[in-house]
Amino acid sequence: MLRTKIFTILVLVQGVFAQNILEGDRSVPIESKDGMVVTSHFLASQEALKVLKNGGNAIDAAVTAAFALAVTQPRSGNIGGGGFMLVSNDKTNKVIAIDYREKAPAAAYKDMFLDKDKNVDKKISRFSHKSAGVPGTVAGLALALKKYGTISLSTALKPAIKLAQEGFIITPRFYKGVLSKEKRLKKYKASKDVFFKKDGSAYQVGDRFIQKDLAKTLKRISKYGAQEFYTGKTAKYIVEDMKKHGGLITMNDLKNYSPSIRKPVHGTYRSYDIYSMSPPSSGGAHVVQILNIMENYDISSLGHNSADTIHIMAESMRRAYVDRAEYLGDSDFVKVPLKGLTSKAYAKELSKNITNQRTPSKDLKAGNAPGYESNETTHFSIADKFGNVVSNTYTINFSYGSGIIVNKAGFLLNNEMDDFSAKPGVANAYGLIGGESNKIEPNKRMLSSMSPTIVKKDGKNFLVTGSPGGSRIITTTLQVISNVIDHNLNILAAVSAPRMHHQWFPDEIRIEEGFSKDTIKLLEQKGHKVVQKKSMGAIQSIMIKDGIFYGAADPRRSTSSALGF
Ligand code: DON
Repeated sequence: MLRTKIFTILVLVQGVFAQNILEGDRSVPIESKDGMVVTSHFLASQEALKVLKNGGNAIDAAVTAAFALAVTQPRSGNIGGGGFMLVSNDKTNKVIAIDYREKAPAAAYKDMFLDKDKNVDKKISRFSHKSAGVPGTVAGLALALKKYGTISLSTALKPAIKLAQEGFIITPRFYKGVLSKEKRLKKYKASKDVFFKKDGSAYQVGDRFIQKDLAKTLKRISKYGAQEFYTGKTAKYIVEDMKKHGGLITMNDLKNYSPSIRKPVHGTYRSYDIYSMSPPSSGGAHVVQILNIMENYDISSLGHNSADTIHIMAESMRRAYVDRAEYLGDSDFVKVPLKGLTSKAYAKELSKNITNQRTPSKDLKAGNAPGYESNETTHFSIADKFGNVVSNTYTINFSYGSGIIVNKAGFLLNNEMDDFSAKPGVANAYGLIGGESNKIEPNKRMLSSMSPTIVKKDGKNFLVTGSPGGSRIITTTLQVISNVIDHNLNILAAVSAPRMHHQWFPDEIRIEEGFSKDTIKLLEQKGHKVVQKKSMGAIQSIMIKDGIFYGAADPRRSTSSALGF
């Protein structure tokens, strides 16, 4: 009796407290049996959880979450971008990948971002209508639902429409995000009208944020289906904007867009199976390649985040990013030597010239890259009681993409064209160098690092994970895998632990806060330059053990939320 009373009081107190919380609830490793949702926004997690509770499957919940994120987290959640979704089912033991990455418009060409002196014009490749690839999100989500879901597109869109129409309360993260990109978001009137009040001031924490045009667009898609976005009024709005501002996307580009079902990259790490995204993402190839190199060392004995482990990881990463620049591109256009890159024999070969000291990047291959910006993408992981898991990463590239909202349509356009190699040897926004394989070609997909990943143990789903972070996505993802497999960390510890990164150029180990001074000193003695920068990634993950789902939302995003039932 007393226990029941105390419990009721606790629930009530929690309820009152919850109403005052404007950001996510992510501080405990959530355990549940019937379903789990981990996204970077608590409103999307809540809506997706409702779908699971109503008997929907993980794919239904994923599509619902993706549309809800497009409203509640417009800096990365989107309908104007693209992404990748991995779906795995325990019963069929099949893992498939849906590629809904943007494509270059038909009028795109190799040197389109070079100025008259043959230098890359970053303003055009990143912040103009030309920076947008043909969006794939709406078609990709509709395909996922049609093939693997159980609810209709209009049901999946309902919560998003409500959130856009009635609005939601602005969180500190939302407020800070808009302010940090104020100049970019005020450049085009349509963007300014959405993100700022009539007097030009920013919406404040606690204000309600309503997106009328976006609600109308989502309603049209709900009424007429995904093709509305590609052939209907929405398509016309996109093309009108393109014509007005010198963009390349035409009605034909939109009409011709189609997502692809692909075979994910498969590899093994110790006794686990790794499935991750295949080209046009480099993610899967290099997650597997780096893990293959690491497998040649007793990482567990070397210790979690010890100087020796970080050294081996950095050297493995360095070598993989050299190959990325050389070989990776859209496999519909170039031959990507996936088999070789992910083979154990090749990894062994690469490990042979890893010594106790740093290998200077310039000795592996010449190149030079500027620093890399911090940007936005978003990943979510979902598991249901039917044995399905979904690992989805989607993006408009930078935070708020190109910063351009399509007039009258209310959504932001991606600036994914910057992920192509605008000029061989010249780095993109993430400091990534590319070559011929990733040159711009009409209708080609630009190379990505997004790595939605599913790890299986004995044929059963074990880990669902993935992250934003541009070039750091690959290294973030594989560290969580290693933290769990090599270091036996629970999923929340694995997600939260400080991370490191190396990408060949710049020739430095980038670390987050939280590494000891003596570890850094030992790394410097091995010849490494170690730099501490902002946090990397936001890896929303689920671990499944003995039929229990353990959800871990990344504390690096204040709105992250893991919810189970
Ligand atoms: O596809 C890619 O690799 C990039 N466009 C992803 C950008 C990204 O993750 C930004 N986020 N933090």
